[in-house]
Amino acid sequence: MASLSVNGKTHQVDVDPSTPLLWVIREQIGLTGTKYGCGIAQCGACTVHVEGAAVRSCVMPVSAVAGKKITTIEGLASGNTLHKVQKAWIDHDVPQCGYCQSGMIMAVAALLSEKPKPTDADINAAITNICRCGTFQQVREAIHMAAKA
Ligand code: FES
Ligand code: FES
Repeated sequence: MASLSVNGKTHQVDVDPSTPLLWVIREQIGLTGTKYGCGIAQCGACTVHVEGAAVRSCVMPVSAVAGKKITTIEGLASGNTLHKVQKAWIDHDVPQCGYCQSGMIMAVAALLSEKPKPTDADINAAITNICRCGTFQQVREAIHMAAKA
């Protein structure tokens, strides 16, 4: 049994300690905004925040995050107020199919909390998420837009 704090709520989950956080979030807790892409920490579709840092949840054992503050895409907004990254994404029409975008937004939100005005080099280093629809240019422009918000 592990106690997880997700989006401000505590959940007791009865899973093997080695279970990846991604599957606990999706299947035990029922938050399906966080996506499965590769399962090997390569694509970033599964990105969530643990204590504010971007983490690829497909390779994070649930035992490593018990008691830590976890935020998923469902918890990024403050009530009815969208996060500035979400607003920039809408204003800039970033998503295509959308599958990668929860993870992309979570990675960008973590970057901006650490570096509020990232350079293109900062973006290249931090945002290694894969988008099969090729939204990379839109993502970059929207990051710069969010950084000005
Ligand atoms: S599903 Fe986790 S990085 Fe691809
Ligand atoms: S928007 Fe389709 S994979 Fe990124």
